[in-house]
Amino acid sequence: MSFVVDEKIEAYAAAHTTPPDPLLAELADETRATMSSPQMLTGTIEGRFLELLVFASGARRVLEIGTFTGYSALSMAAALPDGGRIDTCDIEPAHVEVARGYIARSPHGSKITIHLGPALDTIAQLDGEFDLVFIDADKPNYANYFEAVLPRLSERGLIAIDNTLWSGRVLEPEDDHSVAIAALNDRIVADERVVAVQLTIRDGVTLVRRR
Ligand SMILES: C[S@@+](CC[C@H](N)C(=O)[O-])C[C@H]1O[C@@H](n2cnc3c(N)ncnc32)[C@H](O)[C@@H]1O
Repeated sequence: MSFVVDEKIEAYAAAHTTPPDPLLAELADETRATMSSPQMLTGTIEGRFLELLVFASGARRVLEIGTFTGYSALSMAAALPDGGRIDTCDIEPAHVEVARGYIARSPHGSKITIHLGPALDTIAQLDGEFDLVFIDADKPNYANYFEAVLPRLSERGLIAIDNTLWSGRVLEPEDDHSVAIAALNDRIVADERVVAVQLTIRDGVTLVRRR
């Protein structure tokens, strides 16, 4: 599936990225076969990108907003050191049920806690600081998630925001989701509290740190 990069380039990049382990490949297959919106799954390129981000940053405490069937949580968990943990949340019980099944089977699953409920409630209930926050749910609320987690970043903490190019529709935003994402992109680049980079990975990923 192609989002913003030319389809052939995307396929080439996927073919030159370390393939997912068998459990993640099975999760992706089940998601495609049984879920109504399987394109929500991050997949090979972004999954490996998130894993390497955790590895390179040395993150120990990760927050994920939007579990879906667990692909990105399991990708990140693979790079967490012993004692590291991921809190991930979702409002859809059917998504969480699939995620729980794969997390239970993964050698990294004990590092992941799923919270069923609205993300803003989960963020408020969790204590402490986050080394990495992956925002990947509920686009109209992106700005609220950004503001809720920014003050909670650790000293070298990062926020990764998914789908920030929204299949290119941010260029001429018309629908609610495109308008919300484009507004957040404009706001982040003008925000003197942060340093950000807009990446063209998959559907667009913005990486942010505090100044
Ligand atoms: C794009 S998917 C996440 C994909 C996942 N990160 C992955 O890589 O497979 C977005 C998820 O956010 C969930 N969601 C939607 N609104 C939410 C909210 N208010 N709080 C928490 N999760 C929400 C949806 O049920 C959906 O499973």
